[in-house]
Amino acid sequence: MSVFDLEIHLDEQDLSRALRADAAAGLSASPKWLPPKWFYDARGSDLFEQITRLPEYYPTRTERHILAAHAADVARLTGAKTLVELGSGSSEKTRLLLDALTAHGTLGGFVALDVSPAALRDAAAKLNAEYPGLSVRGLVADFSRHLGVVPRGGDRLVAFLGGTIGNLLPAERADFLRDLRAVLDEGEYLLLGTDLVKDPAVLVPAYDDAAGVTAAFNRNVLRVLNRELHAGFDEDDFTHVALWDPVNEWIEMRLQARRDLQVPVRDLDLVVDFAAGEQMRTEVSAKFRRAGVERELAAAGFALQHWWTDPQERFALSLARATAKP
Ligand code: AVJ
Repeated sequence: MSVFDLEIHLDEQDLSRALRADAAAGLSASPKWLPPKWFYDARGSDLFEQITRLPEYYPTRTERHILAAHAADVARLTGAKTLVELGSGSSEKTRLLLDALTAHGTLGGFVALDVSPAALRDAAAKLNAEYPGLSVRGLVADFSRHLGVVPRGGDRLVAFLGGTIGNLLPAERADFLRDLRAVLDEGEYLLLGTDLVKDPAVLVPAYDDAAGVTAAFNRNVLRVLNRELHAGFDEDDFTHVALWDPVNEWIEMRLQARRDLQVPVRDLDLVVDFAAGEQMRTEVSAKFRRAGVERELAAAGFALQHWWTDPQERFALSLARATAKP
């Protein structure tokens, strides 16, 4: 029989406090912005799952192919006893790693860390049934704030997949990698998924699909604000914008006001003015090159050991080893 607990390091109250702080800061800034983590309520998570199946959205399936091709290498090279997945969501691609580590004979435990208790509960229940004897732990926590809750010891491999690191701004990314290195011991591993710089004719449609799923996903953040902060956004007042920023090498998603608006946000005691055509940033999704990934890893105390890509070099998986603390 396997053991399963969900450990709550982030409750509804912490989440709502963080959302209020982010909304207060972002909606009163110029230009306005909102952090992408607030897309992922139940509906937003479902829309994201739909995005991963769109013909235009190549990252998920490309990463899955790379992982399928190299999971056995990851198991052999790391000999990990514990797999820790950050922002695990549905833990779907995780099975490829769990299978390889199980076959290699080293795996004893799986730790999933996510802000969504619902996603963790689902994933953990399935994994418990599929991997008898594996100890599965679910940590409800925010990977950008609570890395300290990751259990110590056990020859760990930390997987941070999907290109989610690209949703952090460069300074946040540096902090995150440093914080992660701080909770690891020398010789433990990070498996990092990063989307790669490519032709904007491929990149932009991945964030502006013909079926309009990404547009619905983007506007969903307004529904979250309406529900959680008693705001008065009307989704129909905003259009979805996805653009490629060639200087920063990231995709930026924005919501553009169709007309002049005064939007009340009751719980913040705030009325937010939008001018017709004004754009609010809701996400950056940075795209990477090998040299940049290697440099950012090194700055945080990780040595890049393997770099695996698909034949079209759309996406990369990096295996990095924690080096002696700088
Ligand atoms: C997979 C969460 C990193 O940036 O590609 C998908 C989220 N945003 N479409 C990404 C996303 C718009 C995404 N992550």
